[in-house]
Amino acid sequence: MADAKREHWDEVYRTKAADCVSWYQPTPEPSLRALDELQLPVKASLIDVGGGASSLVDRLVERGWSDLTVLDIAASGLDVAKARLRDEAIKVVWVVADVTEWRPDRQYDVWHDRAVFHFLTEAEQRLAYHQALEAGTVPGSAVIIATFAPDGPERCSGLPVRRYDAAALAAEFSPAFILERDWREEHATPGGGRQSFQWCVLHRR
Ligand SMILES: C[S@@+](CC[C@H](N)C(=O)[O-])C[C@H]1O[C@@H](n2cnc3c(N)ncnc32)[C@H](O)[C@@H]1O
Repeated sequence: MADAKREHWDEVYRTKAADCVSWYQPTPEPSLRALDELQLPVKASLIDVGGGASSLVDRLVERGWSDLTVLDIAASGLDVAKARLRDEAIKVVWVVADVTEWRPDRQYDVWHDRAVFHFLTEAEQRLAYHQALEAGTVPGSAVIIATFAPDGPERCSGLPVRRYDAAALAAEFSPAFILERDWREEHATPGGGRQSFQWCVLHRR
């Protein structure tokens, strides 16, 4: 199963241009805004879970962030980001892993996840994700998470997703994490479609 998932995502990044996938954003505006509001120093540590080819890490390197990690099940997704960053890629730690099988050996100030948690349709996958999250954070760590909202698509990249509103996401992460802020976003896809996302910022108690 894990191999099938890995192959699925590797194939996506090998066969589609990074700016053609439905989740592509020219600039990761909601994430940058959420980070600005947290007012963290650039030495804060951040992991982008399921970051794939996202340009969030590019923008943070530009801003001087010095402790960045991007994790993804698909090495081919990370390769796109590394190629774009060129010499700057060495400033980032790249981890190829399935987040539900990965156990971090360090903790992060920020755990960022845009459109990964919603693929975990089985309770045991979510439990495994929470185990990674709890091992990878400390009290005070922030989680910035985005999933499809209840009126968002039922599938992404051909895979079924579980959709959440803010209350449902807060319940998923409770009691270890407390909801600080939530908002909805209408994401414009490169193909001209709209997708409703639910965003939440939570803090670990
Ligand atoms: C919809 S894309 C979002 C990519 C990125 N977060 C963004 O906003 O552009 C989902 C990403 O999650 C990765 N992914 C899916 N399941 C994963 C898992 N179990 N562990 C780690 N990464 C996973 C995929 O390879 C893909 O890069």
